[in-house]
Amino acid sequence: MAQFTRVSGSVGLITLQNPPVNALSAAVRQGIIDTVQRSLSDPKVKSVVICGQNGIFCGGADIKEFGSDMRGPPLVPMIHTIEAAHKPVVAAIEGIALGGGLELALGCHYRIAHSKARLGLPEVTLGLLPAAGGSQRLPRLIGVPAALNLITTGRHVTAAEALQLGIVDVVTDHNTVDAAVKFALSAAGETGQPLDARRISTHPCPRPSDLDALFEEVMHKVRQSARGAIAPVACVQAVRAAATLPYTQGMEREKELMATLFTSGQARALQYCFFSQRAVGRWSMPSGACWDTSKPRPVHKAAVIGLGTMGRGITVALAQTGLSVVAVETQEKQLVEAKQAVSGMLQRGAKRHGVAPALDKISYSQDIQAVADVDLVIEAVFEDMALKKKIFQQLSAVCKPGTFLCSNTSGLDVDHLASQTRNPELVVGMHFFAPAHVMKLLEVVYGPRSSPQAVATAMQLGKKMGKVSVAVGNCRGFVGNRMLKPYMEQALFLLEEGATPELVDRALEEFGFAMGVFRMSDLSGLDVGWRVRKADGLVEPGTASGQSARIRQGRRYSPLGDLLCEQGRFGQKTGRGWYQYDKPGSRVARADPWLHGFLEEYRARHGLVARQIHHQEVLERCLYALINEGFRILEDGIAAGPEDIDTIYVFGYSWPRHRGGPMFYAAMVGLPKVLERLEHYHQAHPDVPYLQPCGLLRRLVASGSPPVQRWREVIKKLHSHL
Ligand code: COA
Repeated sequence: MAQFTRVSGSVGLITLQNPPVNALSAAVRQGIIDTVQRSLSDPKVKSVVICGQNGIFCGGADIKEFGSDMRGPPLVPMIHTIEAAHKPVVAAIEGIALGGGLELALGCHYRIAHSKARLGLPEVTLGLLPAAGGSQRLPRLIGVPAALNLITTGRHVTAAEALQLGIVDVVTDHNTVDAAVKFALSAAGETGQPLDARRISTHPCPRPSDLDALFEEVMHKVRQSARGAIAPVACVQAVRAAATLPYTQGMEREKELMATLFTSGQARALQYCFFSQRAVGRWSMPSGACWDTSKPRPVHKAAVIGLGTMGRGITVALAQTGLSVVAVETQEKQLVEAKQAVSGMLQRGAKRHGVAPALDKISYSQDIQAVADVDLVIEAVFEDMALKKKIFQQLSAVCKPGTFLCSNTSGLDVDHLASQTRNPELVVGMHFFAPAHVMKLLEVVYGPRSSPQAVATAMQLGKKMGKVSVAVGNCRGFVGNRMLKPYMEQALFLLEEGATPELVDRALEEFGFAMGVFRMSDLSGLDVGWRVRKADGLVEPGTASGQSARIRQGRRYSPLGDLLCEQGRFGQKTGRGWYQYDKPGSRVARADPWLHGFLEEYRARHGLVARQIHHQEVLERCLYALINEGFRILEDGIAAGPEDIDTIYVFGYSWPRHRGGPMFYAAMVGLPKVLERLEHYHQAHPDVPYLQPCGLLRRLVASGSPPVQRWREVIKKLHSHL
């Protein structure tokens, strides 16, 4: 809806009304058309102000409408009518002007923004481009390079930057609507034809002298960072049209490009990600407790135990939210190094955001007694159950009653830790991802005894820290790392069967991962998994010579990673791993002839004959094994729905966002096909249980392979039968 009122005698005030962000639904578009018409035909109205209710201008097109048949009046002619108006139209921008919201404002003759407002054209993040004239008007207003930057990244700019770029005419700290009304009154009083110069579509687009070179360079960069996403490329093409064609033809091109994007699977995937990211905040536990009924307790003071890489990142992230943090590290040398590192990270972060570093928020101690009065503790010591158990016993004795005790474990049994404490209901896992002050994902792990309040508190703290928090059940590896295991395992088997790390990684990177599995493994360190496998009794040093070396605990096993570790090849940190590096710590991975020889020797020793392996097989085996485990996780109730898994993979494991996440991808590929391929590979490798199709997958296929949004119904039925 849009409401019309007349204010200050002659200003028609149009207020967009569609909570929570005044998105441009069909009703709002119709409302704008009606009220603009009314303002233009009413002789008492001399000028017009468009604003949004509740201090929010407009969040753009209504994304919920995209999946439907899009009824109602289109945006483009609506914005043209506003631009062509013979009375001045002023946009009063409070809160946000995003996407169609900014395009609407660009159709107005003047734009006034509140100093706290944010503006942008984020369509690219939804697999689209600004197709209500945004790709044609913005370059005309602020020039091609700046417009390319905004449109291809979708980034939001502050009011100050918008003013500097020339997107807005005035920024105010006061009431924006009042300022806009005042502005409209004076604009209506101006003589001559000042409005002609204010119609952006009539401006020529400034043409950089080296236009071809500029577009070539931008296109190259965009293709590289897009990792297969098509929208950023289309955005460049649209801006190029603005720079090279007359406005009307540019608009045709914008429409044409949008038509391709709008119905693409990538746009569907990205819009699914948008809603999934928000849906995970509405968490629930098998007990029935959920976000709606469980109140978090406020956290004013928190503690971090252990200041290794993870502990340092968590300390920074906590301090940046404004909390008081007690950072405990028992080893003096480590403490001194950590202090320096944390201060450095805080200072760099503060510089980037133009704020003061929160150094004074942190107090350091070598003594665990220092956490006695905190509201919540995050233990972040080495991944060793015996050590963690000891710390939880100490915390339970030291902390004041009611303190929440959280473990930053990446996969150990949270319930086992809870059993070390007097109040197991206060214990949850908070699994951060490295570097913890940068990575957006947080898995909040509830055990069978965790209280809903403990979960709610951890979820809220995560949100405050700017994380996308996903509540998951307690099992080995939780969601993310549990699914990674079969993925990694398939990659190793492929090496045994004839692939190289380069071939496997190339297939995965072409699919859209930032890094293939072997490069990722080199980055995070091969020794981490080795230590875990040793603790699990899987590693048999030096015995990889016999046939039995490829079977452990009754199932097929690849000792390749163990053999590299035995040679001290831990990855980037040692300068050798699945690849070779110029020096320890270097990031440039180069194929290693030694490794190829080693693989050949290994195959010969085990009577394996190398065969040619195609990218398709790499993708099917690695990804379908991972997806199959995702189905098991849903079947076990460890994740509440496919959106939770997909959000975890997009934010924590660099799964390409334009492919929605593993479960969405499975639905896009077609569940019958995923099932058929898993059956095929399981037949070929019967000693690999991860390839055996999960019952839930079969059930979904039997129920007609419903869209991913309807899987929860099938899962619910499955659980009610158990
Ligand atoms: N269309 C439909 N619904 C929208 C929307 C839009 N353009 N923008 C936001 N919403 C909804 C969200 O889905 C959420 O709904 P929920 O409460 O049912 O989950 C609600 O508005 C609040 O959004 P949220 O993102 O949780 O709030 P926020 O204050 O953190 O962020 C925005 C607000 C507007 C910055 C953010 O929602 C956003 O970036 N929206 C998309 C803007 C966009 O891309 N517009 C161009 C569309 S082509």
